[in-house]
Amino acid sequence: MKHHLLNIMSSTAGLVIPCRAAVAWEAGKPLVIEQVEVAPPQAMEVRIKVKYTSLCHTDLYFWESKGQTPLFPRIFGHEAAGIVESVGEGVTELKPGDHVLPVFTGECKECRHCKSEESNMCDLLRINTDRGVMLNDGKSRFSIKGQPINHFLGTSTFSEYTVLHVGCLAKINPSAPLDKVCIVSCGVSTGLGATLNVAKPKRGSIVAVFGLGAVGLAACEGARIAGASKIIGVDLNPNRFEDAKKFGVTDFVNPKDHQKPVQEVLAEMTDGGVDRAIECTGNINAMISAFESVHDGWGVAVLVGVPHKDAIFTTKPINFLNERTLKGTFFGNYKPRTDIPNVVEMYMKKELELDKFLTHRVKFSEINKAFDLMVNGEGLRCIISMDD
Ligand SMILES: NC(=O)c1ccc[n+]([C@@H]2O[C@H](COP(=O)([O-])OP(=O)(O)OC[C@H]3O[C@@H](n4cnc5c(N)ncnc54)[C@H](O)[C@@H]3O)[C@@H](O)[C@H]2O)c1
Ligand SMILES: [Zn+2]
Ligand SMILES: [Zn+2]
Repeated sequence: MKHHLLNIMSSTAGLVIPCRAAVAWEAGKPLVIEQVEVAPPQAMEVRIKVKYTSLCHTDLYFWESKGQTPLFPRIFGHEAAGIVESVGEGVTELKPGDHVLPVFTGECKECRHCKSEESNMCDLLRINTDRGVMLNDGKSRFSIKGQPINHFLGTSTFSEYTVLHVGCLAKINPSAPLDKVCIVSCGVSTGLGATLNVAKPKRGSIVAVFGLGAVGLAACEGARIAGASKIIGVDLNPNRFEDAKKFGVTDFVNPKDHQKPVQEVLAEMTDGGVDRAIECTGNINAMISAFESVHDGWGVAVLVGVPHKDAIFTTKPINFLNERTLKGTFFGNYKPRTDIPNVVEMYMKKELELDKFLTHRVKFSEINKAFDLMVNGEGLRCIISMDD
């Protein structure tokens, strides 16, 4: 069976592959399943067969284009799992049949960021939300009857086949179930890393998480693993609180239930402020509240949500003088190729739970249902199965 599969895959190497992709033609309009042509990978590129993808809020923001730069037509999608179909010139680390997770921010392994222990902001492959083409030749690998279709985040996983730079693919344990570890490709790693790598709560800490979607709940999962004594979940959507109980969240605050600012509510609950706050909403007011809710002297707040492009963060400088720290992170500071295989291993060793994030599942042809669920704040992650 395995051999049979490999033969089929290698038989397409070097050829254009016609396949189905969900194309966003206009901002906020339902995606349309189209027949697209996917060009072969060029130097340092890899073409993969996407097996599963899911929807992250970042896809939704750029599809809505309310607070982000519009670029259409475009193939969205960045949280996924797949199998290498063919590789371009110069690619030695991956071969057809390898199981991979695409990542929206890459790791070239050569630049000063990749060589730094502190950074995952690769000079070559860091997130670029405005680029719709591949780096190699400034062109798209997707077309419909000759019309190029824009890429998104260098991943474009809402397609049966997609082409990525090799530095944007993490090679993972082939026995890991792709319909589960799919969410490690963005949301889970982002939230988990925001806590474990950036906020770094000490054992016994009080951690507040703003926004209890998949990213925020992965941050809670990180707080649980780090041994937090209290995890306070803050969300405007009361339906989130039921889900959040499964993630070790001990206390819930809905800012809508209070007259005073949420940072004051948290200060009262915690004798002056939380030790760590992790913001996973994308809302500027929540970002400011998260920062202002940390304890003076030692508190650290971490911003994870993707803000409106014109948002400005304002706070009194005295909040910093009083020894509070503000940080931010993409992808939880994980380096995709070096670190993500290990996050998958955490799942394999049952140190990290993924099933509780997977609340819905749809066929690729019903991808718009996944958008409706997220717009309505229903469920956490919806797995989109490409084979159905
Ligand atoms: N930095 C990164 O690398 C990175 C990676 C992935 C996602 N993100 C961002 O993380 C955020 C969360 O993503 P997600 O997929 O979990 O989204 P989601 O829609 O599943 O969850 C967001 C949650 O935030 C809540 N919320 C919104 N405004 C709020 C407010 N003012 N106060 C309290 N709660 C509020 C919503 O009710 C919702 O439950 C998004 O902004 C997304 O773009 C960032
Ligand atoms: Zn994402
Ligand atoms: Zn680099």
